[in-house]
Amino acid sequence: MTLTINRPDKMNALNFATLTEIEGAIKSAYTDKEVRGVVVTGAGEKAFVAGADISEIAGVKEGDEAYNFSKNGQRIFSLIENSPKPIIAAVNGFALGGGCELALACHIRMASENAKFGLPEVTLGIIPGYGGTQRLAALVGKGKALEIMLTGAMITAVEAHEIGLANEVLPAGDLVIKAKALLNKIFRNAPIAIAKVIEAANSSSPETGFEAEAKAFAECCKSEDFKEGTTAFLEKRKANFKGV
Ligand code: COA
Repeated sequence: MTLTINRPDKMNALNFATLTEIEGAIKSAYTDKEVRGVVVTGAGEKAFVAGADISEIAGVKEGDEAYNFSKNGQRIFSLIENSPKPIIAAVNGFALGGGCELALACHIRMASENAKFGLPEVTLGIIPGYGGTQRLAALVGKGKALEIMLTGAMITAVEAHEIGLANEVLPAGDLVIKAKALLNKIFRNAPIAIAKVIEAANSSSPETGFEAEAKAFAECCKSEDFKEGTTAFLEKRKANFKGV
């Protein structure tokens, strides 16, 4: 099955409705006997997913709403990570914020040559809240993960490959075909064994880290800098942070 995130006019940014559709698609992949694996990609040529929808984040109220905003994304991305059927991210452009976190939740990441990865949440006055603080470090090591998260800077597909974030870098035209070919290679193996490899590889999932992440995300949403960061993006200007 190919799951295409389809909001190209908004760089496939994830709003609540899109996240809910992703949840529905993944749940049906779990149960549909015809589906043996999933390729996740983005519509258009520019973006995989450029993050959670900032216009929606900007309206998130502090406290429970902010905490639940993070928990909702964490829950859906954990569904991806724990899928008994393999899920490959075909990263065909910007994979930023929630988009990078979506790719991180997938079992394997293949990137097009024009792909860019990053967790720019700190530039908005927030933190990655969909599992990124835990999954990036698990994949590339804490030092590199902290560099990426603290600078908020983007890295290229080649850099992502060098640090183990992308399994492979491919010409854009080959990306989805090669991702499907990789799935087909996996499908030659025993389905129960495939599911159990995923289960065992995830058995040390850092649940306490997810909880800390959601609480920290909610804390950030109390700050004036959060308001300034998201407003500045929507007004297409540079943010002026004050540390309060
Ligand atoms: N949420 C909401 N809207 C977004 C978005 C997001 N995460 N990312 C892009 N968009 C929207 C833009 O606001 C713009 O909408 P408009 O045409 O109505 O003005 C449209 O998508 C195209 O984006 P634009 O910024 O004009 O394209 P670009 O090629 O100049 O830049 C990016 C592309 C990805 C570098 C830039 O859009 C960006 O920095 N996006 C936000 C990334 C981010 O901080 N993600 C983390 C969110 S937690």
